[in-house]
Amino acid sequence: MRKKVSIVGAGNVGATAAHWIAAKELADVVLVDVVEGVPQGKALDLLEAMPIAGCDVHVGGANDYAATANSDIVIITAGIPRKPGMSRDDLLQTNFKIMSDVVQKVVAQSPESILIIVSNPLDAMAQAAYRQAGFNRERVIGMAGVLDSARFRAFIAQELNVSVENVTAFVLGGHGDTMVPLARYSTVAGIPITELIAPARLEELVQRTRDGGAEIVKYLKTGSAYYAPSAAAVEMVEAILKDKKKILPCAAYLQGEYGIDGYFIGVPCKLGAAGLEQIVEIKLTPEEEAGIKKSAAAVKELCAVIGV
Ligand code: LAC
Repeated sequence: MRKKVSIVGAGNVGATAAHWIAAKELADVVLVDVVEGVPQGKALDLLEAMPIAGCDVHVGGANDYAATANSDIVIITAGIPRKPGMSRDDLLQTNFKIMSDVVQKVVAQSPESILIIVSNPLDAMAQAAYRQAGFNRERVIGMAGVLDSARFRAFIAQELNVSVENVTAFVLGGHGDTMVPLARYSTVAGIPITELIAPARLEELVQRTRDGGAEIVKYLKTGSAYYAPSAAAVEMVEAILKDKKKILPCAAYLQGEYGIDGYFIGVPCKLGAAGLEQIVEIKLTPEEEAGIKKSAAAVKELCAVIGV
């Protein structure tokens, strides 16, 4: 039997995630949204593309969560996106209400599922989902680090005119202005980028990575990024469905790792069939550690506002 992935929110991120999943033939897909007709229409359109793509998956759309029953994974993208000038944190109250409602409905239909949270502000929304779902931490994971490190990788590849496949990068911390791109652990064909890019230029790429989401919002004006965010969520889906044991930077609920207890923050995670199978602890320099602590403090502040 094919695996089933439901996606809550049939906006740009949700619909594009459905597209990636279907085109990779990973699972049957159900798109859910409150707007009548939109999930049905987008799903049908995508279903009709499958003969061309040569992919045997079913794609369906619904307004009712019954259609999501017994999903293996549920990606939650529901919420409002940023407008120019807004930070991810400005979305807190509105998206918290949406998240609480969505998670309750998702869990009722798919009590064994793994949740991948995409809505912003990411780390606080993952925490809200975790509290609401009552799942163990293995089954609630936030998508942010894969996106942030993909941006960093894209900029490094462009800078050095090398294949994106040669570039690995690590971005830790919260998905916000306090994220911590780790240049030391970022490499091109195994060579640390600190040996390939001058410090001042590297700092510019790091800053562009931090501002990556805002850069897109500024161009689009009426929405935020969706190709890279959806591709990032689907890389996590693939790692789980194929039990790849892939190490990816994700937001995970920390219980003492990195000196942080009781909050979601971006750290290297091993993803496999059980979801979050391991948090990989790496040695940080005092400066990096201060960066991740600052990031955690920012997440803590947001969580306090919504009481999660
Ligand atoms: C971004 C938003 C989606 O980083 O958080 O583009």
